[in-house]
Amino acid sequence: MTSENQPKAGHRGTPANNAFRDFMASGWATDDRSPTPRAEVADHAARRREALSGQFPGERLVLPAGGLKVRSNDTDFTFRPHTAFAHLSGLGAHAEPDSVLVLDPRPGGGHEAVLYFRPPAPRDTEEFYNDSRYGEFWVGYRPTVADVESELGLTARHIDELTADLGKDEAAARLRVVRSADAQLAELVDTTRTQAGSALTSEEQAEADGELERHLSGMRLCKDAWEVEEMRKAIAGTHRGFDAIIATLPEAVRKGRGERWVEGVFGLYARHEGNGVGYESICASGDHANTIHWTKNTGEVREGDLILVDAGIEVDSLFTADITRTLPVSGRFTDVQRKIYDAVHEAQQAGMEAVKPGNRFSDVHAAANAVIARHIHEWGLLPEGVTLEQTLDKENGGWHRRWMVHGTSHHLGMDVHDCQLLLREEYMDGELKPGMILTVEPGLYFKADDLLAPEEFRGIGVRIEDDVLVTEDGYENLSAAMPRGSYEVEEWIAGLAENAGNAGNAGNADQA
Ligand code: GLY
Ligand code: MN
Ligand code: MN
Repeated sequence: MTSENQPKAGHRGTPANNAFRDFMASGWATDDRSPTPRAEVADHAARRREALSGQFPGERLVLPAGGLKVRSNDTDFTFRPHTAFAHLSGLGAHAEPDSVLVLDPRPGGGHEAVLYFRPPAPRDTEEFYNDSRYGEFWVGYRPTVADVESELGLTARHIDELTADLGKDEAAARLRVVRSADAQLAELVDTTRTQAGSALTSEEQAEADGELERHLSGMRLCKDAWEVEEMRKAIAGTHRGFDAIIATLPEAVRKGRGERWVEGVFGLYARHEGNGVGYESICASGDHANTIHWTKNTGEVREGDLILVDAGIEVDSLFTADITRTLPVSGRFTDVQRKIYDAVHEAQQAGMEAVKPGNRFSDVHAAANAVIARHIHEWGLLPEGVTLEQTLDKENGGWHRRWMVHGTSHHLGMDVHDCQLLLREEYMDGELKPGMILTVEPGLYFKADDLLAPEEFRGIGVRIEDDVLVTEDGYENLSAAMPRGSYEVEEWIAGLAENAGNAGNAGNADQA
């Protein structure tokens, strides 16, 4: 054997000789696993691809999953595929890094879906035992071509065939790619279509790619029945995660750095029930609640304060909940905390009531915002001489927004801020339609150093966020099982404290 055929010596000190490689290749039982059974999502993904195919006839569409991202040196972040890839392939949390879904135009019309990926190398290769990124010895069993074809009902090929297949015929000049998913692949597509004689400038090509990505974003606006069920699972898991947070609040107070403790407890549920958190959890106690995206979570959780927790579980199909509850750490709101909380709750209810087909997306914010403005006005916080009408004037007003600078809603689904690439007329000014899921999440934020807020309000921040489905004649609050009125929240906390107390007593009895 020539030296080229010798296994490479690794820095790990794995033996690098042919006798060892041959030994590693021998003595394994025959792999008699059957291919992965067809997934329930396969039919749904096929329908989505059919719809996409009709919009881009004769074009070759490239949807990368994206690759691993280095965390440090030779360790990577947990892989999560690009949402457009996941939606159109049906592969969620268990997608293989560097997979690419291609919709290949058929001569007679329509497209063939081909999934390119890196199947496991056979056991007589070094990859098997010496490749810490892909090798079976290191990362476990990975699917074969037969597994993917059986699970998803599409054609699967080795990733090494992708470059040639992208450039194989006249459709090579009519390529579009989801650029944001994988920069290297976007470059490959640029080169391929230029070499194939595409008449488009690079700006025009990028624009064509952007149009594909925007279209894919819009395809997720209305959720079908299967997708709504996935959202229900995400929300039910998130509810259990919040129960666990409430039960652990006394411990969070005791331990110090309680925000991190709360984040960790929710994270445990997120990893156990699903793929993980759908976004970094916001665990914001006291004045931290006034930082809208407080994800450092380094603070104390103190008796008497509120803790604002904004968190959601992403299930394995990658649908995520996005829920906020603002909880009194000691179990009871003070009068002033309740006053602010109830105002936010009233605004949220008004926002929800505006969720119905035919209304515009922006009507939800308008309804919640009007209630927020009224309270700010009644509390005497508007500048001298500014009326309620003036602050509600969209062009020239907005003083009350000092205390709620964010919008009330966003679309929710596989991305926490879903469908974000849509244009204003499709999103903000778009009509609500059955199947859409949006958050309703007004808040009020009085920073500790806000000299324009009454002293007793300072350091109090409240947000309440629920996930709402547009139905044929109105809305369904998918997270309705999670209490949100101030008295209901207190009962929720008291109920869980009682359970924890009973469990604690049982534990003590065992020790005695
Ligand atoms: N968790 C981010 C948001 O509510 O939009
Ligand atoms: Mn949200
Ligand atoms: Mn949120």
